Amino acid sequence: MTPIGEPRAMGYDVTLIPGDGIGPEVTAAAVRVIDATGVGVRWERVEAGAEVLMKYGETIPEAVLQSIRRNGVGLKGPLTTPIGGGYTSPNVTLRKALDLYACLRPVKSLPGVPSRYEAIDLVVVRENTEGLYSGIEHRVVPGVIESLKIVTERAVLRIARFAFEYARLEGRSKITAVHKANIMKLSDGLFLECTRKVAREHPDITYDEIIIDNLCMQLVLNPYQFDLLLLENLYGDIVSEICSGLVGGLGVVPGANIGETCAVFEAVHGSAPQIAGKGIANPTAVILSGGLLLRHLGEDAAAQRIQRGVDRVLQEGRVRTPDLGGQATTEAFADAVIAAFE
Ligand code: NAI
Repeated sequence: MTPIGEPRAMGYDVTLIPGDGIGPEVTAAAVRVIDATGVGVRWERVEAGAEVLMKYGETIPEAVLQSIRRNGVGLKGPLTTPIGGGYTSPNVTLRKALDLYACLRPVKSLPGVPSRYEAIDLVVVRENTEGLYSGIEHRVVPGVIESLKIVTERAVLRIARFAFEYARLEGRSKITAVHKANIMKLSDGLFLECTRKVAREHPDITYDEIIIDNLCMQLVLNPYQFDLLLLENLYGDIVSEICSGLVGGLGVVPGANIGETCAVFEAVHGSAPQIAGKGIANPTAVILSGGLLLRHLGEDAAAQRIQRGVDRVLQEGRVRTPDLGGQATTEAFADAVIAAFE
């Protein structure tokens, strides 16, 4: 990820959105871990999500957007979205309002975390602003709904350039564009036209393409053949979760939503209402998202401390949350990571 600056002696202002469900618990754990690195973050706490909707009539109040625009960086807990009706996804609202066009999810095996595969190390880059997520739906006649998939040259060129630039900076050698252009000839056809154009600008990086359904099978059979996956919005959403499953589940995969002027870091998982308030949610994904945030700020040493601390605790296996077969609380896991800092 492109760091936005050199480490700063006077610290950083970062927006904190605790979120819904397990959000406040896992973000509190991540804040403690980030603070323990000594980087000097001043947290500007703002409220968004389901409860805020009751109070202010919107899930993402203007104050949230202003705070992130001002600080340039945010750490966010999951936000609940009702299924089949109710309010628009606050996540989609936030990404659109701040034009956080690139969703980045590094998927890496963690030591000691049970999973089907070892040594997975791949990256999912997802276009975050359009596709079927555009939310343009209407009822044509009773019993018939039309949902529009929007693909624009501007958005695809931009996400493809982000992916190639990221690959170059992070030493990734291959980008696979994922599509269904055999069926969606125009929309996914344009997607491929644009990714091919950007690929030609980067001859140093291998480029290939795969149809989405085949990708899903190949990921399950042999995930090692992939390095960086480049996808439109909906495919990226689904494939991110398959990839999370390859490394032990939703509780351990971090993420970032990046725009031209600001970036919001968050776990891949949702608000997990079944376990909210019990203090047993796994904070690993948000802690590692905090690591990505520090990297974005140019604080590589602090980011590495977090990664090594998490690796040590998981490798040792004594302190684990219930989703990973242990009995530790969210707080106890954060304590153990801090204690494992060298
Ligand atoms: P979910 O990710 O909340 O939960 C799926 C399963 O994983 C559940 O069994 C849950 O208990 C478990 N899980 C998730 N995170 C965990 C953690 N940190 N530690 C331990 N176990 C964990 O997905 P679900 O149930 O589909 O969605 C619940 C709500 O979250 C929905 O309203 C959805 O819209 C929202 N959501 C929000 C996201 C965001 O804010 N970025 C992302 C995904 C979902």
